[in-house]
Amino acid sequence: MPTIQVSTEEMTKQLHFTREIRNWNEAYTATTGRVRTACVRTFGCQMNEHDSEKLSGMLTQMGFLMVPEYSVNEEPKIADLILFNTCCVRENAEEKVYGHLGALKGAKRIKPTMITGVCGCMTEQPHAVEEIRRVYKNVDLVFGTRAAHKLPEYLHQVIFDNKRVLEVSKTEGEVAEGVPVERADDLKAWVTIMYGCNNFCSYCIVPYVRGRERSRKATDILAEVRGLVENGIQEITLLGQNVNSYGKDLEDNDGITDFADLLDLLCRETEIPRIRFMTSHPKDLSDRLIAAIARNKSVCNQLHLPVQSGSSRVLKEMNRKYTREEYLDLVARIRKAVPEITLSTDIIVGFPGETEADFEQTLSLVEQVRYDSAYTFIYSKRVGTPAATREDQVPEDVVKARFDRLLALQNSIGREINDGLVGRTLEVLCEGPSRTNEDRMTGRTEGNKIVNFIGGDGNLRGKMVRVHIDHAQTWSLEGTAEL
Ligand code: 5AD
Ligand code: SF4
Repeated sequence: MPTIQVSTEEMTKQLHFTREIRNWNEAYTATTGRVRTACVRTFGCQMNEHDSEKLSGMLTQMGFLMVPEYSVNEEPKIADLILFNTCCVRENAEEKVYGHLGALKGAKRIKPTMITGVCGCMTEQPHAVEEIRRVYKNVDLVFGTRAAHKLPEYLHQVIFDNKRVLEVSKTEGEVAEGVPVERADDLKAWVTIMYGCNNFCSYCIVPYVRGRERSRKATDILAEVRGLVENGIQEITLLGQNVNSYGKDLEDNDGITDFADLLDLLCRETEIPRIRFMTSHPKDLSDRLIAAIARNKSVCNQLHLPVQSGSSRVLKEMNRKYTREEYLDLVARIRKAVPEITLSTDIIVGFPGETEADFEQTLSLVEQVRYDSAYTFIYSKRVGTPAATREDQVPEDVVKARFDRLLALQNSIGREINDGLVGRTLEVLCEGPSRTNEDRMTGRTEGNKIVNFIGGDGNLRGKMVRVHIDHAQTWSLEGTAEL
């Protein structure tokens, strides 16, 4: 089914609601001398971080002052609007949100005018919306990821019709262009290139909560990146659940047929110094893409390539559509074309039915690939996914012991790789002083490694700096600027 764009009439309607709320906020300031505040709290992945930048963009346009924190018991510091942008990939992400919602019940008694909203992946699940409706009566507004561009309309109903709005998404999802964005960083920016996922890995809830794959048009992406470059952005990360299937759903994309074409286009038509992207599904990573990474200087030599398990049997049950051997062959082809590439991955420990032998296959794959870093997760049962109803769930203590072994192995490999960089000089995009030590600068290499370094006059933010690496740690490097 071809991707449907949200119509301009719909976006104009949202602008109308935005203006009415803005007037309401301005009238409040005129009579009280106060500005209504709003806080967006984000859980989960980069996609959610970026969605929150859009939510903040819309709220700013509505006249709210965005604040980074809120209080639950000091009246003046309880934000006028608190919006939770949630995640449901693992159970603990949901539990945290319920904890926060519970803590806000008291705040609502202290400040009855406050508005609490919950959006994002968790609220795409009817059972979560029902739980909020029943237990968290302090929540005024609920909507899912696919309806996020309608925030002005929903908020308008809460404010002016005094309604409790609890929406469950009814569409497969569309692509909304023209939503304002309040970016958190002026050096690095996220750019969504596609939404949704068609893969249905048997453990994963994402396809159910984010809908089918929808790509943005290349011309819209290009216009956005050009605008970012004009505003001094030095690095973009292209986001999608599976960027390698970019464009497959578009009938007419001005000659851009796939993700490799999109990378070529952005490198040819803009001056962006660094491009990263995530996430790549191994089954769809083409030789055309490998060649595009190798040929384009701006495309960073860095790849996030989730493997999930090292056992072909488990991979089959996960519905990943590649074997251990195919994955290893892919890694070999990538390394041949781009020898300096840094690799990271995602691994799930304790998928139902995972035996000791399966797990050892994961350990041996990690040893063979030698990832620079790995995000390791304990399998979490997600209602509605095929794996959740399996009877052969692995006992908690067994999973925990395996998880610790995997982490120890990966940490030692990461450390060894970093040790091998001592003595080299690497190019670092400086992000400014380190948060933990003001006397040092911090930044990242093309391979996305964090480098803390000394030297320079404190004015290096936004500059590419050559840094001599003096020491290595497990998750970062230390060095001296060569100025
Ligand atoms: N349990 C544990 N980890 C999961 N992931 C996705 N679903 C689950 C689950 N049910 C992990 C995968 C994915 C990453 C974003 O989250 O490793 O790549
Ligand atoms: Fe989930 Fe698999 Fe889609 Fe990734 S590719 S979002 S793990 S279903």
